[in-house]
Amino acid sequence: MTWKRTISAKALEKAGHAAVKVDDKVIFIANVNGTLYGMDAVCSHARCILGELDSGNLTVKCPCHHAVFNLKTGEMLEPPYVAKDAPKEKLGLKTYQVRDNGGWIEVDV
Ligand code: FES
Repeated sequence: MTWKRTISAKALEKAGHAAVKVDDKVIFIANVNGTLYGMDAVCSHARCILGELDSGNLTVKCPCHHAVFNLKTGEMLEPPYVAKDAPKEKLGLKTYQVRDNGGWIEVDV
């Protein structure tokens, strides 16, 4: 386990979610009703940064081609919306443990 400090818990609570750089990764972190989540923020399709959180369904949609990921598991629930004949692999994303440590959000990388 290697916990890395990201942003303040207050900032995450205010924003609801954020994409934070941790070493060589960009990680999508979210605070949904007090529960913290972490998942790779770089889309497995064409590397856009994820950003559209649906806190009710715990899903995140990619702004580029609208693939949808399960925030808890990283599973791709909806494939990218691309040309009809393009391959539509459902490639999931890695998830991370996230904690509030004294007012700072930390991610286990
Ligand atoms: S880059 Fe995310 S769906 Fe295409």
